[in-house]
Amino acid sequence: MRTQVVIIGGGPSGLLLGQLLHRIGVEAVVLERQTRDYVLSRIRAGVLERGMVELMATAGVDARLKEEGLPHDGTLISYREEIFRIDFAKHTGTPVMVYGQTEVTRDLYEARENIGAETYFEVEDVEIEGANTDRPSVHFTKDGTRHQIACDFIAGCDGFHGISRRTIPEEVRTEYEKVYPFGWLGIISETPPVNHELIYANSDRGFALCSMRSMTRSRYYIQCSMADSVDNWSDDQFWTELKRRLPQSLSNDMVTGPSVEKSIAPLRSFVTEPMRWGRLFLCGDAAHIVPPTGAKGLNTAASDVHYLFEGLKSWYGDGDAAGLDGYSEKALARVWKAERFSWWFSTLMHRFPDQSEFDLRMQWAELDFLRSNEAAQKAMAENYVGLPY
Ligand code: APR
Ligand code: PHB
Repeated sequence: MRTQVVIIGGGPSGLLLGQLLHRIGVEAVVLERQTRDYVLSRIRAGVLERGMVELMATAGVDARLKEEGLPHDGTLISYREEIFRIDFAKHTGTPVMVYGQTEVTRDLYEARENIGAETYFEVEDVEIEGANTDRPSVHFTKDGTRHQIACDFIAGCDGFHGISRRTIPEEVRTEYEKVYPFGWLGIISETPPVNHELIYANSDRGFALCSMRSMTRSRYYIQCSMADSVDNWSDDQFWTELKRRLPQSLSNDMVTGPSVEKSIAPLRSFVTEPMRWGRLFLCGDAAHIVPPTGAKGLNTAASDVHYLFEGLKSWYGDGDAAGLDGYSEKALARVWKAERFSWWFSTLMHRFPDQSEFDLRMQWAELDFLRSNEAAQKAMAENYVGLPY
């Protein structure tokens, strides 16, 4: 077999890249370790930056997003008994779009099926050969048979646990990591959201977040210990704890109901450098992870896809390699800014196990400053709606 680009990983990064390449007539094969249903059962964040919304439009997959996405012009932040709003529209002129990542992935799979592009599911033992030569290839097993695809380029879109990053020799790679000493216990319920915008809460009992998937489907999170288990949390216990972390004026109005999903996620910051090795390019979670506070995961994957797509477009269109040569540097410059924002927002909003009274006063002082200072709000808004590509 031969194709132009092999995309390892059929998550949002790989699928979006595949769809963009299709629009400019470049052929790509997607290799995915799981089944389509499994990929679509994963629940992730649900806030899209403008750049991601524009990429979905460029890829021609934004019909449902335009119909069902909820534009949000701001977000609420609460701490102690205070609540204030960061006004995205006023400070940046741009809203964010609330639309679940699962729906993004579903739209991309449907578009891929419609164009009849090649996707291999349930592939095993994927191996990259000759990434640092002019003749790379990817090998994999499907239904017990070993296959080989020769290609021009390989996009490593296979997430944090994938093989692409580990194909880059250790002496070439530098990894940076911070693991946070807590997790997020999240639920989805078929109830109207407590507020029409998201609420990020810093409380004495730990962080809480009120988000949504639609006006009838809510997504709520509370900070928990990583040693905790979902079995320790009945729905009633979850709702009681969530309400205790919100100002009463908000929790009084909360509509509760049975959860349809409940899980605990860890929080981690991670970056690997460089994001390119020869003809292998890392995109998305394969190269970096952010803690979910601020919903930068998918959006940062999207900016990688944008830079790689532009590089491939120039290469296939004009034989110009400059975009590909500059990929790692450009992508990383933006990645680190998203890492900084996610780290800052996580540090500001959570209770840390070893937090001193002084540390707590620093959080309150910073929240007071953010509440009362327009310049600080503008900086927060610019980061939240997404820095330019
Ligand atoms: N071979 C083929 N596919 C693989 C392999 C492998 N060896 N290893 C992993 N995969 C697949 C996974 O099953 C998954 O479907 O790669 C895909 C990677 O998808 P994601 O983990 O969703 O990563 P990405 O597409 O970069 O999306 C980034 O999604 O994970 C969230 O928080 C993340 O929001 C961010 C966004
Ligand atoms: C979500 O809706 O799942 C979500 C929203 C905002 C975040 C994180 C997660 O910061």
